[in-house]
Amino acid sequence: MNLNELNAIARKMVAPGKGILAADESTGTIKKRFDKIGVENTEDNRRDYREMMFRTEVAMKDHISGVILFDETIRQKAKDGTPLVKLIEAAGSVPGIKVDAGAKPLAGAPGEVVTEGLDGLRERFQDYHKLGARFAKWRAVIDISADIPTYNCINANAQALARYAALAQENGIVPIVEPEVLMDGDHTIERCEQVTTWVLKEVFQQLYFAGVALEGIVLKPNMIVPGKKCAKQNSVEDVAKATVKVLKDCVPSAVPGIAFLSGGQSDEEATAHLDAINRIGGLPWNVTFSYGRALQAAPQAAWSGKADNYAKGQAAFAHRALMNSQAALGKWSKANEKAA
Ligand code: 13P
Repeated sequence: MNLNELNAIARKMVAPGKGILAADESTGTIKKRFDKIGVENTEDNRRDYREMMFRTEVAMKDHISGVILFDETIRQKAKDGTPLVKLIEAAGSVPGIKVDAGAKPLAGAPGEVVTEGLDGLRERFQDYHKLGARFAKWRAVIDISADIPTYNCINANAQALARYAALAQENGIVPIVEPEVLMDGDHTIERCEQVTTWVLKEVFQQLYFAGVALEGIVLKPNMIVPGKKCAKQNSVEDVAKATVKVLKDCVPSAVPGIAFLSGGQSDEEATAHLDAINRIGGLPWNVTFSYGRALQAAPQAAWSGKADNYAKGQAAFAHRALMNSQAALGKWSKANEKAA
């Protein structure tokens, strides 16, 4: 492991004013997104859609530091035969790869899941490195209800994240460590704060036990928000304050950067929260976005699978990338949304 190289990649991924495009939807997940816009889930349509984003020059060059890909996409070629990975690299952005095999029911733990995919991962990392990947993603999922999560679930997921992260670093790949506490359900912001703190404490403990170098990771956490069905929905400032409090309590300053997931927040909420977090300032890490839905819902709707809408799709993607870039610097405002 060359820690200087890993650290340089990690810092590039969270460079000021830039963030990550999570375009790593599995074939099943992208089908759900395409169903909403009436697009058939074919390999060509998946390629056309992603090629449209990767060819959005201003966004890719100025605002997107890295792109998380799915296995199919990292091997796929653009319509003109150029590998999609080359389009990303040509824009100065770093290609990354989702390597987990999804969250599966955890035996003996009703309602809880554990992320699978460790078997054969060393060889897969070697293969992905040859294909151009310089960072990876593994997502653990923690749900909240009256009697979950259990320590069994948190510990199993944290151990898997740590084993994945150690293997990634061994193979010259920066691991995005993503423990996602879901915002489904009716729990309060305080409960999200309590559970996320527990999860992050356990994750950093397991990363330490596994010998993972914190200078060579990027953390991808949830923000501290109330459940979607909670009667009390907190202000942007409440969310920002609670999120900064938890991160300061749990994330060592050796970590170069934190890139949030959007987790089902609306486009503008995800941007406003990131902006408010960065406005608090004085943070030891660069704090940015690694959004899937909050970057892509708008371009998906604008494109809707029609070649004629290509420019509209690109404009919608460029706009969200710009808004989130401003938020990553704490320089976004609602007026900027309207100006566009
Ligand atoms: P969302 O921003 O849509 O939550 O997706 C980010 C991601 O990569 C989830 O694993």
